[in-house]
Amino acid sequence: MSDEETQLEARLEEQDSFEPPASFVEGANVSDPAIYDEFEENWPECWERAADLLEWDEPYDEVLVDDDEPFYEWFTGGKLNASANCLDRHLDDRGEELAIQWEGELGETREFTYEELHREVNEFAAVLRDLGVEEDDVVTMYMPMIPELPIAMLACARIGAPHSVVFAGFSADALATRMNSADSEYLVTCDGYYRRGDPLDHLSKANEGLEDAERETTTVVVDRLGDDLDHELGENQHDYDDLVAEQAGAVVEPVVRDAEDMLFLMYTSGTTGEPKGVKHTTGGYLSYAAWTSHAVLDVKPDDTYWCAADIGWITGHSYIVYGPLALGTTSVMYEGTPDYPEKDRLWEIVEDYGVNQLYTAPTAIRAFMKWGSEYPERHDLSSLRLLGTVGEPINPKAWKWYYKHIGNEACPIVDTWWQTETGGMMITTLPAIGEMKPGSAGPPLPGISAKLVDETGEEVAPGEAGYVVVDRPWPGMLRTLYRNDERFIDEYWSAYSDEEEDEWVYFPEDGAKIDDDGYITILGRVDDVINVSGHRLGTMEIESAVVGVEGVAEAATVGGDHEMKGEAVYVYAILEDGYEPGEEMEQAIIEGVEEAIGPIARPEKVVFTSELPKTRSGKIMRRLLEDIANDEELGDTSTLRNPDVVEDIQGKVSGD
Ligand code: PRX
Repeated sequence: MSDEETQLEARLEEQDSFEPPASFVEGANVSDPAIYDEFEENWPECWERAADLLEWDEPYDEVLVDDDEPFYEWFTGGKLNASANCLDRHLDDRGEELAIQWEGELGETREFTYEELHREVNEFAAVLRDLGVEEDDVVTMYMPMIPELPIAMLACARIGAPHSVVFAGFSADALATRMNSADSEYLVTCDGYYRRGDPLDHLSKANEGLEDAERETTTVVVDRLGDDLDHELGENQHDYDDLVAEQAGAVVEPVVRDAEDMLFLMYTSGTTGEPKGVKHTTGGYLSYAAWTSHAVLDVKPDDTYWCAADIGWITGHSYIVYGPLALGTTSVMYEGTPDYPEKDRLWEIVEDYGVNQLYTAPTAIRAFMKWGSEYPERHDLSSLRLLGTVGEPINPKAWKWYYKHIGNEACPIVDTWWQTETGGMMITTLPAIGEMKPGSAGPPLPGISAKLVDETGEEVAPGEAGYVVVDRPWPGMLRTLYRNDERFIDEYWSAYSDEEEDEWVYFPEDGAKIDDDGYITILGRVDDVINVSGHRLGTMEIESAVVGVEGVAEAATVGGDHEMKGEAVYVYAILEDGYEPGEEMEQAIIEGVEEAIGPIARPEKVVFTSELPKTRSGKIMRRLLEDIANDEELGDTSTLRNPDVVEDIQGKVSGD
């Protein structure tokens, strides 16, 4: 490194706040700081600004109806169709512009103009209808990052059938649980996909899941692998291309949906083992996804925008599909891993497509940082105008690396805090307003009332840590958990609401700190959820998988700090008599977890113990197990029934 470079590095290391680059501010969608006050003074009507980004078949009567809290309703009386908003309304002006630019892992490309995507979506909507899908039937999708996934989602939206996308990396069991929970009778999947150049059989996994499906299922199978994988279709299984060919040129009028009609379900992990079916609606969700894409990601129709997430998670729903397409921009989709065939794959895509915004996860940034700056340096990244992160806290070092080596110190970074349940971003700086502080997400967005409180619900002082709460509703919020209003109230509204006073407070179950400027630094989940590489996993789900392994009597799972993944899964297991701790059992547990949930939940470490630390009332002290995993000083162990076990476990964790 030259002297000058060394000096620059040192300066960057010390700097803890950054102004938005002037070049960016000039052309930004939102650049007037008055927006915060405007939203505040005009709440909830301020949200018309989000609704105005959509085309409504019939205007709404009221912005917000709060007669039956916490079952809020947004834009009531309004009618619209999400697929028409993402496609049809762009046809006149932007029909020939690209909607989706897709790149497969092997380098093959497919692109769809708005006209082409519109045609594909119409044809597949006709297919679904023909198969018997009716309005409000839940269609499950179990697909990797191939264009047929957004096509199928938009086709569902067109005919008013909610989709439920299950991440392709999830297991057969996870698929079955989600299909059964949603009473879903339709599945769209594919034969397989490529990972690091090798074809991966996906259909067998889907079929295994279908064996446990409680309802008779009609399945559509996309042929992604061609000759690379022979697959046979079973009874009630159809080839995607054959069905679409029969519907060539079909036109399906978009079904007019109420603003509050369900657009989709997305299952996510919570405190108990059963995944939660988060319900999002057509008007509120779509306007919120569009508004945040406009205000935070600064998406403009002429942009080439890339969110390098997977559509199997909420980030991909809101910011690969619905937000960007509602705004009529070009959304890039990449099928594969960032290091195949080489570690510069992402930068090659940025250069080749001229990507303007890149939205990715801190875990990926940490990997890029580890691989080294020579990979981005091979490419011209000057098309980039904005960078974003999501999914987990970003450490200042990774933030600064991203800022310098990817953004060339000329792109603002938005560190966006939100959740499956919130539908879209909640806490982040606006990229052209206010300074950025690496590691801190920033203030709540205009109109969002997020605060930090202590256990009693009192707001904490700057500098203190507390729990994040949101004490006013917002359009993108979940409406309920599918067919489980009780659990919806229990999970999200019971901790801080005062029912008698009619004060309803949403609790996202995250801890955070707040500074003098109102910037919020997220510290992580305070419930039994582990965040592995930005993926949310429930400890209960993992524990029940471990206990399901023959020979395991009891288990506890916690998240241990991990340099790359943020958190990693630590399993503490007690074996039944007659079973020996050792490699064989460890392997059985690892396989058991992968089978029940998927490879993302693969335990980093399995520790065999004869006891778990328990309180006198018999509750496992997970906090202690977490401290042990992180090699941290242990807190108070005096409330334990069996304090000796702690030292024993500590020895086992640090022993190798
Ligand atoms: O703990 C927070 C973390 O991810 C959780 C939500 O996970 P999920 O519903 O899967 O949605 C992920 C993508 C929106 C949150 O409760 N999280 C998300 N974004 C951030 C974050 N933690 C810190 N900083 C973020 N920017």
